[in-house]
Amino acid sequence: MKGIVLAGGNGTRLHPATQVVSKQLLPVYDKPMVYYPLSVLMLAGIRDILLISTPDDLPLFRRLFGDGSHLGLRMEYATQSEPNGLAEAFLIGADFIGEDSVALVLGDNIFYGQGLSKLLQRSTVELEGCTLFGYAVRDPQRYGVGETDGAGRLVSLEEKPVSPRSNKAITGLYLYDNEVTDIARTLRPSARGELEITDINSEYLRQGRARLVELNRGYAWLDTGTHESLLEAGQFVQVLEHRQGVRIACLEEIALRMGYITPEACHRLGEELSKSGYGRYVMEIAETIAGRKPDAGAE
Ligand code: DAU
Repeated sequence: MKGIVLAGGNGTRLHPATQVVSKQLLPVYDKPMVYYPLSVLMLAGIRDILLISTPDDLPLFRRLFGDGSHLGLRMEYATQSEPNGLAEAFLIGADFIGEDSVALVLGDNIFYGQGLSKLLQRSTVELEGCTLFGYAVRDPQRYGVGETDGAGRLVSLEEKPVSPRSNKAITGLYLYDNEVTDIARTLRPSARGELEITDINSEYLRQGRARLVELNRGYAWLDTGTHESLLEAGQFVQVLEHRQGVRIACLEEIALRMGYITPEACHRLGEELSKSGYGRYVMEIAETIAGRKPDAGAE
């Protein structure tokens, strides 16, 4: 399976904080926001990743991740010239996707929870058509919303409904079979002028090939859409990291634990950042996994 991180948009809701820098590069506590969704793809076992952003911001992402080989990834980059909608990712990424299935993650979505990695890996293996991830929220009208029947089957999908039929928001992580590029080509812009991901999902639903996996209350799906929620997301990460002594979405650690890089290579990555607590953590994890220290961070 291939992976796409969509990290474009104007970030207008966070101006002036995002006037000259991409929203997805803002820090969420100790690391850039985009680390969190990228970590989700890595935990799902995906190593071929296309990052899509604006022409202005793309060079910054390229500087941050390069070709991804230091993390055991193969990273490619593509521009989205205007925010024409999330579904445009499949038109921009069609050649990259090729004959494969694909996971799309929005560059501003943060997921956290025990067992997330196993859940994602299982979901990619069992994929038939499309798999969406639902999360109960207090304010569903701000999101795509999914309704399920008594047996937990998805029966309806709506984008930002005024009167939501359920409290299940559709999160910004989507798994699709290869047909997604063909479906994307048939889309017309919505009333707000965008190629809507919800229209893709509705087509899979119409074909009876859409599945909703519920992320229960053991998981956190954090919002970064407002200054308040962005600050809260940072505080959430800080509290957990401080309390437990582990780091969330530490890409070097994930690359090491997934077996993408060796402890020696991981240690060298930490050394490059050794003036920061993050860098020292990476070095410690590398030493721990190389067998020199007891492991506190393993799941
Ligand atoms: O976060 C989950 C929600 O994401 C879903 O529940 C909704 O169904 C889905 O439409 C989307 O809603 P948003 O209101 O969050 O979409 P927004 O337009 O804010 O875009 C989400 C992110 O994607 C944002 O960081 C900007 C980026 N983006 C957006 C558009 C429209 C792009 O990179 N390119 C685009 O063309």
